[in-house]
Amino acid sequence: MGRSASAAPVLVRVRGMTKEFTQGTRTLRVLEGIDLELHRGEMVAIIGASGAGKSTLLHCLGTLDLPTEGEILFDDVDIVQLPPPQLARFRNESIGFVFQFHHLLPEFTALENVMMPAMIGRVPQREAKERSEEMLEAVGLAHRLRHRPGELSGGEQQRVAIARALVMRPKLLLADEPTGNLDTRTSDEVHALMFRLNEEHGITMLVVTHNLELAHTFPRVIRMADGHLIGDTTGARAKEDDARAREAADAAAP
Ligand SMILES: Nc1ncnc2c1ncn2[C@@H]1O[C@H](COP(=O)(O)OP(=O)(O)O)[C@@H](O)[C@H]1O
Ligand SMILES: [Mg+2]
Repeated sequence: MGRSASAAPVLVRVRGMTKEFTQGTRTLRVLEGIDLELHRGEMVAIIGASGAGKSTLLHCLGTLDLPTEGEILFDDVDIVQLPPPQLARFRNESIGFVFQFHHLLPEFTALENVMMPAMIGRVPQREAKERSEEMLEAVGLAHRLRHRPGELSGGEQQRVAIARALVMRPKLLLADEPTGNLDTRTSDEVHALMFRLNEEHGITMLVVTHNLELAHTFPRVIRMADGHLIGDTTGARAKEDDARAREAADAAAP
């Protein structure tokens, strides 16, 4: 799905989004006027140095934080303007989050953790359970339903977090360095899983990563620096750009 998704209808349209943080008398501008369109079914990687504003962008897109200025049209509705109860409902139904650390609740089983957003979303318990079992099966954990997070490996914990993020069948999955805490092999498995879920269910995914090699496999790569989007191209092109930048850096080295 991902490969031809840029021709698909627009799911999210961001216009002139800025974000400032004020600490005492100082104001730090972290997003400097972002314009961005995400199409349905797209698989997009975000790369950029630490501090570039990647997490802030994801938080604003996911309504965990509000932008200072600008609009975020999601299916043509400006979510920045939604009153808090509708905003909470929108977030629960339309957005899935995966973070670097899984944030699973330690005293609950994998199944109960995945059911949580569905229970909050008032999905009837039986349906919530069925959906959660299906999601855990989809991420290859049908045999780990009753395990608690402490009884799962790092990769399994992150797969539970992905199942939890997808149980409400959101239109957009936002992932902030979802494999930043995993070893290479496990991280490859989790990425393969995300690509498969994109292919099979058409979920739009925006994935922040430090892993350039991984980013280069995405159909679309967005590059951020100092609160700006400074690049928006295919993974193959980004790969060439990064190779050229590395050669230039090597040539300049003494
Ligand atoms: N809640 C906050 N209050 C003040 N400054 C923040 C806050 N969140 C992030 N920042 C600052 O915004 C900048 C961008 O942060 P972030 O979006 O986390 O970057 P990235 O994810 O690309 O590493 C950093 O300089 C960071 O210190
Ligand atoms: Mg970050």
